[in-house]
Amino acid sequence: MSEEYAVVSVEASDSERAAEAALRPKHLADFAGQPVVREQLSLVLEAALARGRTPDHVLLSGPPGLGKTTLAMIIANEVDGSLRLTSGPAIQHTGDLAAVLSSLQEGDVLFIDEIHRLARTAEEMLYLAMEDFRVDVMVGKGPGATSIPLPLPPFTVVGATTRAGLLPAPLRDRFGFTGHLDYYSVDELTQIVARNAIKLDADLSREAASEIASRSRGTPRIANRLLRRVQDWAQVRGSGKLDLAAARSALSVFEVDAKGLDRLDRAVLEAVCTRFGGGPVGLTTLAISVGEEPETVETVAEPYLVREGFLVRTPRGRSATPLAWEHLGLVPPAELRGSSDSRSGGASAGGGLEDPLLFS
Ligand SMILES: Nc1ncnc2c1ncn2[C@@H]1O[C@H](COP(=O)(O)OP(=O)(O)OP(=O)(O)O)[C@@H](O)[C@H]1O
Ligand SMILES: [Mg+2]
Repeated sequence: MSEEYAVVSVEASDSERAAEAALRPKHLADFAGQPVVREQLSLVLEAALARGRTPDHVLLSGPPGLGKTTLAMIIANEVDGSLRLTSGPAIQHTGDLAAVLSSLQEGDVLFIDEIHRLARTAEEMLYLAMEDFRVDVMVGKGPGATSIPLPLPPFTVVGATTRAGLLPAPLRDRFGFTGHLDYYSVDELTQIVARNAIKLDADLSREAASEIASRSRGTPRIANRLLRRVQDWAQVRGSGKLDLAAARSALSVFEVDAKGLDRLDRAVLEAVCTRFGGGPVGLTTLAISVGEEPETVETVAEPYLVREGFLVRTPRGRSATPLAWEHLGLVPPAELRGSSDSRSGGASAGGGLEDPLLFS
């Protein structure tokens, strides 16, 4: 992905992870938003603590940057267990997993990020460990090899995935609790930004907090990043105060508009509207016209544009909705204005042709 689009990217670069670590809430009570998951998780944890047992295995699913890793750390903290970190891609062989499992201490929390990317053979070893607290260690090679069962102390697996649908059912079934994280409201993000400003020692006004929140695509990771950019601007170009004017100036420098769209997002919408009459236009043609790879348009720009109702994917290509025209300050062609109902079956901008299969 081009670095220039990174300001609203949902992915974190390696250097950003350190900045993120400093902003992670440490307790469930400080974790803003996600009231359902928070309540469910607090029940699971409190009950386990009351019984003096390790909590059931927890699966956390949801889009990037919404707090899965943060929650895993909170869980370890709340149950006073040591956190052991690994990830699906880091476990290439069953031996790697056996080594991790056999070093676990009672009450440890084993966090497996991107658990949908575990190798099949490792998955089977994990089933046994999760269910029976046992790992079969292979000793020797070839025909003489034997497997020795090694009992494991009680521990808790916390799995995180952005693709819960890719987890095989037997693995999913071994989690006693699954929490699904969803996008945050502007109010929740405002609260997160305001709290983090204190941690960053930034003098942030309430209006600036909600301005940043409303441009953050429902994602705390993006909100935190925009907060840091506004802080940069205030320090270098402003008075040091993060007020509404500073927030707006900073976000305009970084080309994040009022709806959280960046340059690529707007380029895509503009191309669909002005060059292709609102669409439908095929992905490849669209990508060429904005000078990007089809994959970048599809994975970086489209998900948010579709989610926010600016773009619809139809079997014949991408179409702009009236909202897109309005957002760009453009007047849609007459046939798109208030007449989407008269074009039943046509490529109406209202998305009448939306194919649910395209969204799976
Ligand atoms: N509810 C929240 N309250 C406060 N900060 C949050 C919350 N959720 C996430 N954050 C912050 O957002 C950033 C990203 O969160 P985190 O790394 O937990 O996301 P993730 O779901 O693990 O993302 P990925 O799928 O990319 O691994 C962190 O800095 C974290 O502190
Ligand atoms: Mg994570």
